[in-house]
Order: sequence, then structure tokens, then C-alpha cells
Amino acid sequence: MFEGKIAVITGAARGIGQAIAWNLAAGGADIVLCDIKEEWLQETADGVKKAGRRVWCFELDVTDTDAVQKAFTEIAAATGTIDILVNNAGITRDGLLMRMSEEDWDAVLTVNLKGTFSCTKAVSRIMMKQRSGSIVNIASIIGLMGNAGQANYAASKGGVISFTKSVAKELASRGVRVNAVAPGFISSKMTDALSEEVRQKMLEAIPLARFGNPEDVADVVAFLAGDRSAYITGEVINISGGMVM
Ligand SMILES: NC(=O)c1ccc[n+]([C@@H]2O[C@H](COP(=O)([O-])OP(=O)(O)OC[C@H]3O[C@@H](n4cnc5c(N)ncnc54)[C@H](O)[C@@H]3O)[C@@H](O)[C@H]2O)c1
Repeated sequence: MFEGKIAVITGAARGIGQAIAWNLAAGGADIVLCDIKEEWLQETADGVKKAGRRVWCFELDVTDTDAVQKAFTEIAAATGTIDILVNNAGITRDGLLMRMSEEDWDAVLTVNLKGTFSCTKAVSRIMMKQRSGSIVNIASIIGLMGNAGQANYAASKGGVISFTKSVAKELASRGVRVNAVAPGFISSKMTDALSEEVRQKMLEAIPLARFGNPEDVADVVAFLAGDRSAYITGEVINISGGMVM
């Protein structure tokens, strides 16, 4: 399905980003992995190689706009093209508004929203020129429904959703599609940090009565990244076990 395609994934060292890399590689894509530290990417890279695909590892902090531009130029030079971008890098710094520091607000907005902006801008030049490409942004249901203690995260992911729709409108005439997924509660290092009480409360709110796993997200990302979704752009697909309908 992805034979001959090059996919770039940010925040690919673990969790959802790692599952996306392995899923696209299993589908035949060659993969460019990006994360803050190159050595963190070893495990993901080994999995891509095991699938028989080519892999490149890039040390990239998505908050560094100049570094992002430079990295995408280097990636395109190394691979020849970029067909798929998955903006997955993301962080949380939870806290109630009254106790939320400006630093925690800025950190989350800068990684989740500005990082998505910088990488999308850098890749859009390449994709517009080749008149094809698919960008998939990892948002969150929190960006749709809000959550006490996550005002910064909700604002960043709500921003990612409206950014997705705007850029989809800008790039559609050039054959470039831009979509987002909104995962619910997905088991990962990010959610491992939550207390048992919070996890139990979350579970009660999920109609399918289980937490999602990174592969649940990766399957939908692969659908949006590939040609089977050729007539879909500016769309947000919830992957939440029915938590948001
Ligand atoms: N786990 C969930 O329940 C859940 C739900 C909805 C959305 N999401 C989103 O999915 C994405 C992946 O989440 P995860 O659960 O796998 O988290 P995770 O913390 O396991 O992985 C995030 C990855 O992003 C990388 N990263 C962080 N800051 C970065 C930066 N500045 N530059 C480059 N890389 C950076 C980290 O090093 C890490 O490898 C995030 O955008 C997150 O907001 C997760």
C-alpha cells in the first residue's frame, strides 16, 4: 500500500509515534524518524528495519523552528521526497488553571501547536511542489471536549484541529490532504502517569469499555495517510472507543 512512499513521523521514539512508524513500515513505506534525542529512536528504527524498510533517524526538537526547516531540507535531500508527514510529537503539563504557570502553558502550546505549524510549513513547500502528499496531525478528544486540569493541552489540541482544517483548505488545490485524528485514552507512557482512580473514572466513560492502544491509532493514521482516503481532507476522526461521538 505504501510501496515507494516516504513517511516522516515526529516524536517517534515510543508510544503512538512508534506504533505509527511500525504500521506504515509494515505497509511498505520507508520511514524517517524524528525525536529530541537520536539515540532514543533505536528501538523504533530496529522495528522498521525488521519490516524490511529503509529508515533514517533525525535528532529534532520540533519547537526549534530553524532546526525544523533545516531538518526537512536535509530529509528531502536524503530521501528524495516526502509523501507523508505525521505530526505526533506532544507533551502534557497538567494543572488547574489557577495553579498553571506561564511556563507550563508555553511549553505545551509550543510543542503541540507551534511544532505542528513548523513541521507542516516546512513539508508543505515540498508537497506543493510535487503536487501530492498527506499530512496527519495527532490531536486529542480533549481538544474537542475540554478537560479540567488540561486547559493548556486542550487549547493546543483544539488549535491543532482548527489548524488542520485551515491548512487543508489552503493545500487542497495542490493535491495535498491534511487530516487529524483525535485519540481518547490510549495506553502509553503519557497516560501511565495517571492515578488508578483517574484511570477507573475514564474507563467508566468509554462505551467500548477498554482503553485504546497505540495500534488502534496507528491503523487510522495509516488509512488517512494512504490513498484509500483520497477523497478525505480537513477531517478529524475520533479514536476514543465511543467516548466522544
Ligand atoms: N496517550 C494518549 O492517551 C493520547 C491521547 C490523545 C492524544 N495523544 C497524543 O498522541 C501523541 C503521542 O502521545 P504518546 O501517548 O505516544 O506520548 P509519549 O510521551 O509516549 O510520546 C511522545 C513522543 O514525543 C516526543 N517529543 C516530545 N517533545 C518533543 C519535541 N519538542 N520534539 C520532538 N519530539 C518530542 C517524546 O520524546 C516522545 O517520544 C501526542 O501528540 C499526544 O498528545 C495521546
